[in-house]
Amino acid sequence: MCGIVTAVATRNVVPVLLEGLRKLEYRGYDSVGLAVLAGGELVRQRSCGRVAELAARTEAQGLAAPTGIAHTRWATHGVPSERNAHPHISGGLAVVHNGIIENFETLKVALQARGYTFVSDTDSEVIAHLIHDKLGGGAAGLLEAVRLATLELVGAFAIGVIAVSEPDCVVVARRGVPLLLGLGEDGVYAASAASALFQVTDKLVFLEEDDLAELRRDAYRVVRPDGAAVERPVQISSLTADAVELGRFRHYMQKEIFEQPQALADTLGVVAGGVGISPRHFGAQAEEVFSGVRSVLILACGTSYHAGLVARYWLEAVAKLPCTVEIASEYRYRKSVADPDTLVVAVSQSGETADTLAALKYAQTLGMTRTLAICNVAESAVVREAKLRFITRAGPEIGVASTKAFTTQLAAFALLTLALARLRGALDAEAEARHLAALRHLPIAVQKVLDLEPQIERWAEHFATREHALFLGRGQHWPIAMEGALKLKEISYIHAEAYAAGELKHGPLALVDRKMPVIAVSPNDELLEKLKSNLQVVHARGGELYVFADAGSEIPEGDGVHIMQLPENYGLLSPILHVVPLQLLSYHVALVRGTDVDKPRNLAKSVTVE
Ligand code: M6R
Repeated sequence: MCGIVTAVATRNVVPVLLEGLRKLEYRGYDSVGLAVLAGGELVRQRSCGRVAELAARTEAQGLAAPTGIAHTRWATHGVPSERNAHPHISGGLAVVHNGIIENFETLKVALQARGYTFVSDTDSEVIAHLIHDKLGGGAAGLLEAVRLATLELVGAFAIGVIAVSEPDCVVVARRGVPLLLGLGEDGVYAASAASALFQVTDKLVFLEEDDLAELRRDAYRVVRPDGAAVERPVQISSLTADAVELGRFRHYMQKEIFEQPQALADTLGVVAGGVGISPRHFGAQAEEVFSGVRSVLILACGTSYHAGLVARYWLEAVAKLPCTVEIASEYRYRKSVADPDTLVVAVSQSGETADTLAALKYAQTLGMTRTLAICNVAESAVVREAKLRFITRAGPEIGVASTKAFTTQLAAFALLTLALARLRGALDAEAEARHLAALRHLPIAVQKVLDLEPQIERWAEHFATREHALFLGRGQHWPIAMEGALKLKEISYIHAEAYAAGELKHGPLALVDRKMPVIAVSPNDELLEKLKSNLQVVHARGGELYVFADAGSEIPEGDGVHIMQLPENYGLLSPILHVVPLQLLSYHVALVRGTDVDKPRNLAKSVTVE
């Protein structure tokens, strides 16, 4: 998704803007650009390539300036092209924009009638002309012009604006899209994510919904849409720039897969040592919110949705609570029956996913106020919206394909299940101790699965030439098959579908032939014998089987049947182990196919628009 970086400082900010864009590359983009105020002039550079290309151009140009704005664009209105890349200019001002302006057509017609000419196909260009119009219409300065313009905008935006009329100033504003300020030693900065600013500061100010801010080298002020000044707290971030370095790995995705033992240990640190299961892990009010809960509703998108699907099995089997899991983009528009005694759980790695946030807000409007966010970003919008929170400790996830965020979400759900089960009297002390021991051992168990990487690399060669794949699973491993299929299509562009294995005979079996690889998630659990029968049916039709089995599964290897053995069955937490080889398989297939693993085509890391 688009990303913004702005800077006004006593130094040359061009390297800061470029480094900030590099740190935002993981969000996904198709073009880049920046504009600076150099010697009283507005200078713009844009490229339909990568940040590196923009950097080469600015270097060749010898561009240096103390004030600037920069942008990575993920096309929504208008194709990816230099003409549509940001910043957009109107007279002596330039604007970068992240989000979608819903009323841009109405505004465009009105601005054209006032003599403005549009040179791009974007919705964003209206913002530049609108602000220019306000400045020409007598607005007292850039901040005031931006304020008046934002009052007319319908939709979501984070914007950064510079103007030749105020060379020592950047104005920013946000609505529905994240934006934060960074207070450096030599200047004031702003960006879509903190990772873009760690190069200059760890002192952050998170702007609230509808805030505007005027940034100067040694000062800043935040105002509300009515112009009233407001204070926002300064927070010192505990994350560091090192947290997002690649280190010994080839890609962030690979690094993040291998970080899972640590990410799980950090996330499960709340039950380290002798500490037991407690509602308090979810916030001071959790006991009160949880008591009397009669059902659970999980809202999420993509991989986070798959985490919710696994959790459903746990919540129903262990905590004895009815649970539904809904795709957030569907739920937010569905006329559903609300129950105030439902615990609504919004799950999101980024905490900025527009659909998940909107679904959570919608649930609240229906009277469901018992809300919990499971999220990897403490300061995110989803976390701020919910009454309770559980922050997963995965650390920054850069690869677009979610990996360590998923397994830590599952760890959070395991803790939630046990906390609710205990509160409801559905968990005796012995069972609690058993589950706690398994949770504490989990990082070591995951490490053992990671050791399978060399074998998985060999399997990846088989897949690289295929264009389709089927994933099968049963019970709590069916969502793991879904997650495996999502990972494969996301980064290797192989068409993959997942089915509950028992469903195969009701249609998808027609797809199975010699050329169809079928990946089976086969833990040694109570459904194993049923699954084996399903696999027999595939084998009999000539399908090529790739089976991830637990020790003791006793599925014989043979012609067209490849087996990879995981350690012994891990019970309730087995999905956390079984997803790891599927992540590695997708990664290695993508490597062989030569795709852009961390930034797959058409996708964005943080989907902050609908
Ligand atoms: O940040 P979120 O967890 O809310 O993101 C939800 C999805 O966009 C995300 O999980 C997406 O499906 C991933 N790219 C999957 O790898």
